[in-house]
Amino acid sequence: MGISYHEKRGFWVLENGGMAYVMGVDADLNLHHLYWGKPLPYPGDYPVPVLPEEYGFDSPLQRIKEEYPPWGGMRFKEGALKVFYSNGVRDLLLHYDSFHLTKEELQISLVDPVFDVQVHLYYQLHPTLPILKRWIQIQNHTPGDLMIHRIYSACLHLPRLKQYRLTYLSGAWVGETQLTQTQLTPGKKLLESRRGAVGHRFNPFFAIDDGRAQEDWGHVYYGALAYSGSFCLLFEQEEGLQVLGGINDFDFSLSLGPGESFTTPSFILGFSQSGFEEMSQHLHQYQWQNLIPRRKKPLPVLYNSWEVEGFGVTEKKQKELAQKAQELGVEVFVLDDGWFHRRDSDQRGLGDWFVDDKKFPAGLEPLISYVRDLGMGFGLWVEPEMVNPHSLLFKAHPHWVYQFPSRSSSLYRNQLLLNLGLEPVRSFIKKTLDTLIGRYQLDFLKWDMNRHFSEPGAMELPEKHQQEVWYRHVEGLYEILDFIQRRYPHLIIEACSGGGGRVDLGILPYIHQFWVSDNTDPWARLRIQEGFSRVYAPRTMGCWVTDSPHWLTQRVTPMDYRFHVAMMGSLGLGGDLTSWDEKEQELAKEKVAQYKQYRELIQGGYIHWLLSPREGPLTAVQYRSRDQQSALVFLFLLGEHFGPHTTRIRLRGLQEDWLYQVEGGEILSGGALMERGLSVSLHGDFSSALLPVTRVLTPLE
Ligand code: GLA
Repeated sequence: MGISYHEKRGFWVLENGGMAYVMGVDADLNLHHLYWGKPLPYPGDYPVPVLPEEYGFDSPLQRIKEEYPPWGGMRFKEGALKVFYSNGVRDLLLHYDSFHLTKEELQISLVDPVFDVQVHLYYQLHPTLPILKRWIQIQNHTPGDLMIHRIYSACLHLPRLKQYRLTYLSGAWVGETQLTQTQLTPGKKLLESRRGAVGHRFNPFFAIDDGRAQEDWGHVYYGALAYSGSFCLLFEQEEGLQVLGGINDFDFSLSLGPGESFTTPSFILGFSQSGFEEMSQHLHQYQWQNLIPRRKKPLPVLYNSWEVEGFGVTEKKQKELAQKAQELGVEVFVLDDGWFHRRDSDQRGLGDWFVDDKKFPAGLEPLISYVRDLGMGFGLWVEPEMVNPHSLLFKAHPHWVYQFPSRSSSLYRNQLLLNLGLEPVRSFIKKTLDTLIGRYQLDFLKWDMNRHFSEPGAMELPEKHQQEVWYRHVEGLYEILDFIQRRYPHLIIEACSGGGGRVDLGILPYIHQFWVSDNTDPWARLRIQEGFSRVYAPRTMGCWVTDSPHWLTQRVTPMDYRFHVAMMGSLGLGGDLTSWDEKEQELAKEKVAQYKQYRELIQGGYIHWLLSPREGPLTAVQYRSRDQQSALVFLFLLGEHFGPHTTRIRLRGLQEDWLYQVEGGEILSGGALMERGLSVSLHGDFSSALLPVTRVLTPLE
């Protein structure tokens, strides 16, 4: 168990019960990937690193699985690292040099035999989960500059499988994180972002199985990048499959001067022996334990009026909404876009982060005191990376945006992107946020990003550094978030980018929840939330209950259905509470109270997608406490066809011989609930139900 070096066999075994990962060095000092999968009983079971003969136009190097293949020598597959030396050599050789081992971390160092360049591969094995974190560092000790044209975080090799099925998340604005599956065939497939941020199209996550894995059965190999910028996941299948990933090398290069080094973002990889559900559970556990900022209390129920007031926020209406929100049980009141200087539309205001004196003549204080007197926390929306050309900030600092000389900068949503690589920009944002958070004692900050990069010119940088803008932006973002978090540890931060355009593991250490999508239509949300929660912990899934008919889809849905969908993550309300009639308000109050009763379970438990919304009219999702004492089943019926929809659902993850009471039903063993299942019946379009399941200690007759 743990990480061990087997000198005689020339390999390292990284093993923690659920997964083994093995690599070794051959006689010619090449580092081979040897094994990834279920741990084998004896070290002698793993293959030893041997360099094969050349065969059929393929060199020995082409035929092995290299742990971190450089571009150089007789290699024709995609490599992980491509450099230019200052003397014009564009060929990198990496030979094994040394290793350093601690209990949970292994460092393997490779060197170019001629040029003094070192590449350190890092492996951090999770102590209990079958999860490994990988990253690399490159050091330039040559007397000249080293130009790097590609530097991925890792190369992974899949074992030979009957077929390679890829599972990933794809989507678009208002249709994010759709669970997508496709069979890979010889050739390449690329999941990427060239947008400077992750964006809505593809998420930096993948899973591979042999086409047969199920929710609770089969081997699944998976990985996710911890990076919030332009990323790339490249799948290349010849005989076997290799997966490379990291910072996208599109329009990217990096220059390292003598003595300088660069460390890549991390690549998290894992292996599940029991299907996709175990993969999700391990990813979620990893996020709870290693990424999400620690918080003793669960995330609060919030209110946000974006869908109600848009840019036209008024103190009067906000107070009315706050009053209603408090009556319904809301804990944090968030003022979205529109509160700052001249922000009457998306035409102007971004950059001028002080209160609009027309909308709030006496400042924000009266509203904030009102909210606090009601016993709620207060939060604000900001979009700190942006500026409108119509703003005081832009007038004062027109050169703070990305731009190329002789090209006009493309506007999107009437805004431009600030160059976070510039120190004065970072300082400005830190100071602005510090002032806002400090002055208003904010409890919550929604950090938005409503456009992607274009004309990515950072002309202040020497030419050799100009293609680093992509990375420097993300580095700046993390630096600012880190600054805020350290200064205001109690502050809850929500990452948003036009909905779910900024969902990744890289930003997770700085934030508490994601705004998952601008699409709050509950039926659409079920599918968005399904994909999202396969990878990201449900507690990070910000969900609101909004009005019906829905502004986007025009769909009419009952309020309890809307609530039940939004209760699956971190609950918020986003509708016009002042227009909810008494009955609706009563229901809302009841649902918020019910959510609070179960939120520890929802925010801290495991999720089981028993019936997927992709499969039929009935969706069933079970949350289960980690100690298996309780569960909560959400049921949703899309449409009724031929009378009430009755079926049996089999619960998962309970203790076989413990007894459980299904609310309003009989007492059954965990085994019975999992094997025989539970009969459920829903009646009517968009009907839904919540079934609490609790362990009981009464003996069964
Ligand atoms: C983005 C967000 C929305 C809202 C608007 C405000 O689109 O996703 O929730 O905050 O910006 O402009």
